[in-house]
Amino acid sequence: MEIVMGNVDLYWEIPYVSENAKLLYARAIASPENAWVPYYNFKALPIHEDWGLDSWWNNLYKVHPFRAGIVKLDPNVYYDWHIDTDRGVGVNLLLNPCKSYCLFNKDFKRGKSLDQGNVTGSFVELQYKPNTYYLVNTQVAHTVYNFDTTRYLLTVDFEEYKDKLTYNQLLKESLEARWWEK
Ligand SMILES: [Fe+2]
Repeated sequence: MEIVMGNVDLYWEIPYVSENAKLLYARAIASPENAWVPYYNFKALPIHEDWGLDSWWNNLYKVHPFRAGIVKLDPNVYYDWHIDTDRGVGVNLLLNPCKSYCLFNKDFKRGKSLDQGNVTGSFVELQYKPNTYYLVNTQVAHTVYNFDTTRYLLTVDFEEYKDKLTYNQLLKESLEARWWEK
């Protein structure tokens, strides 16, 4: 597969087609409401070991252990501009087609109030392709707007916090190790 390096300071598309997105989506929508737990303003469904993640995740896990979960955003909900508190990097896979926008802004500054602050700015969109994993730089301000369908996203929380594992480090290691090819 072609390696795409556009906007690589914000996100990177892993050149691999996931075989598990459909199955994980089926697990997500079949899970009862009480299986979902609060997680940084999302609702999250912890992944069970027997749910069969793509096999390359084992290779990643050996080097950088993580917990994986599916996060959901309800229809017509946004997740405001923020920088992740703990994670330096995420690995994301969108599980269902839905109209939603994931945007990054490297220069984001929050004003003290609307009339004092930066109420406009420029952004770069991460357009999730189906069945495609992305490394995402969670230390650049980002936001998500979700429209009329519940949005399900597989994501990971590395045991190493942002001071131990950065986006640039994981990107470099990924390009060297190419876990998905093994
Ligand atoms: Fe985030």
